[in-house]
Amino acid sequence: MTNVMTYPAVRRLNFGFGEQSAGSRYFADGSIVFSHLVAILSAIFPPGEDIFVRSVRRYSGQLADPELAKRVAGFIGQEKTHGRQHRELNEQLAAMGYPTAWFEYLLQSTERMEKFLDKQYPSPDRLPRLRHFFLGFTVAAEHFTAVWAENILKRPAVQAMMYDAEIRNLLNWHALEELEHKSVAFDVYRAVGVPESTRIRWMRFAQNCGIPILVLFSWLSIATTDVEGRRQPFRVLKETVQMLRNPMWKGFYSDMRPFKKRDFHPDQIDTAELVAHWQQELFGAEGQLAGHVK
Ligand SMILES: [Fe+2]
Ligand SMILES: [Fe+2]
Repeated sequence: MTNVMTYPAVRRLNFGFGEQSAGSRYFADGSIVFSHLVAILSAIFPPGEDIFVRSVRRYSGQLADPELAKRVAGFIGQEKTHGRQHRELNEQLAAMGYPTAWFEYLLQSTERMEKFLDKQYPSPDRLPRLRHFFLGFTVAAEHFTAVWAENILKRPAVQAMMYDAEIRNLLNWHALEELEHKSVAFDVYRAVGVPESTRIRWMRFAQNCGIPILVLFSWLSIATTDVEGRRQPFRVLKETVQMLRNPMWKGFYSDMRPFKKRDFHPDQIDTAELVAHWQQELFGAEGQLAGHVK
């Protein structure tokens, strides 16, 4: 199949969060645990995506290939827009009682340090290991989110779990764009010659610790903010097991494996047909989000 879109397209959308009254608190499959997990993901996306943008932008002056520079511009535009829209949703989630501000604050902690170092050492030759560290994190996280995005878009069972239509719309749009730009950070990584071992080490960490950290954060979120959850520890335990068996994670670990090979490239996983289908489904003439485009 031919590539449907060469450059990641930046779409400005209006989801109307905060304009209507929020729906049920447990908007994800009616599950306390799954709803807290989705809220945490939404909370950490904006600061996480800011890290991705800074990591890639740091190398933008070194890119000899103008095509790649254009794709980087699209990548940055998409990630910035995701952050903005998730922040709007996070305000709604905070009004529903989720501690989104705390989780955003936690991940934002690197921002001040990164900005200080970028100002002190603007030359791309300074602190190469630290620059590689952040780019390696970004590349591994982009693979993590691309696998997630593929699972969200190709599994009707995951779609059916999103009870709130507007949250489902936001996640589908975000997932589509994650697939559209899945190889951009990776191509920057290769273009600037970061050792393969850095991204592979990050993936080992993400694979071993990603899901346990998310489960711990979900429990922490419930323990500190959710009276109903605190009163029902057995329900929380049962829903944690159900959440781990959720089709969203199906094949997750096996999909992480190819990334650890030295000759891996994200385009080796063919998602072109899925992307073309969802571009039409969301943004075609009769698309579900055609009315959301500003
Ligand atoms: Fe994103
Ligand atoms: Fe991304």
